[in-house]
Amino acid sequence: MTWGSWGKNLTKGEMTGLIDYCVENGITTFDHADIYGGYDNEEAFGNAFFQSSTQRQDLQLISKCGIQYVCNARDNKVKHYDYSREYIVWSAERSLKKLKTDYLDLFLLHRPSPLMQPDEIAEAVLYLQKEGKIREFGVSNFSPSQIALLESAIPVSANQVEFSLTAEKLMFDGTFDDCIIHNRTAMAWSPLGSFFREANKRKKRIKKVLKQLKKKYKANSNQILLAWILKHPSKVHPVVGTTSKERLVASARATEIDLELEEWFSLLVASQGHKVP
Ligand SMILES: NC(=O)c1ccc[n+]([C@@H]2O[C@H](COP(=O)([O-])OP(=O)(O)OC[C@H]3O[C@@H](n4cnc5c(N)ncnc54)[C@H](OP(=O)(O)O)[C@@H]3O)[C@@H](O)[C@H]2O)c1
Repeated sequence: MTWGSWGKNLTKGEMTGLIDYCVENGITTFDHADIYGGYDNEEAFGNAFFQSSTQRQDLQLISKCGIQYVCNARDNKVKHYDYSREYIVWSAERSLKKLKTDYLDLFLLHRPSPLMQPDEIAEAVLYLQKEGKIREFGVSNFSPSQIALLESAIPVSANQVEFSLTAEKLMFDGTFDDCIIHNRTAMAWSPLGSFFREANKRKKRIKKVLKQLKKKYKANSNQILLAWILKHPSKVHPVVGTTSKERLVASARATEIDLELEEWFSLLVASQGHKVP
């Protein structure tokens, strides 16, 4: 999402370099959605990947479908979600073409729609799986009951949700319990939360706790913030958005930091601004 026109607007050469650099450093999964960059990013990535030295089997591609928003690339009059069989299949096939690949490792429904019909979605997903066009199927931003609704017709292997030290509510509403109980892959988008985006009292409190932890673990703020979400028992996979080579590689080192129990709660208290009940 951050590589194209919604973010750093990387050139083809820069994207190619970043793909190769990530894979050389063990970061092999790339998160896409049809809508990123105004329905443009997948093609930009596909062109960069085509020119890279990375082979398809050395990386995993995720993409998403369902959001129809108003922009130059589409004739939509109002932002809405479309989970008809035809649209899901069309969107997945379009993603494959743009990404210059013949399969997606994981295909997600981007946001829940009040009008989604489990049987119709299952038909589309089973067709795509039978054709070898998608491997795993999952969702994004779904509640446990919305997943249960879908699972009346088709298994759901992943849920990609907003989760970070400053967006921690899903730890308390059953979303991650559902992932653990059903062995569903949990993924966290915006894993750094608002820490680098805001200047307020919360950031000051978090910064104070981070100062000691950074010293103790010889780590930077990004690594401690990621280590905080990695400690959750759902074994959440952070979807890291940085475009900086240094920050990408440093981020991966967060997996080596195991925060102590009281350190983890000190950060939670700093974020929430009050002790736990
Ligand atoms: N499923 C969904 O609904 C959904 C929604 C939103 C996002 N996503 C996915 O999640 C991914 C990550 O989201 P995100 O980009 O919000 O995640 P993030 O990793 O929390 O934030 C990345 C942003 O923080 C900046 N940053 C990182 N470290 C910094 C530092 N030390 N100082 C200052 N700025 C720093 C990065 O800039 P630099 O590039 O300069 O480092 C980048 O702009 C997206 O790319 C997308 O694939 C999914």
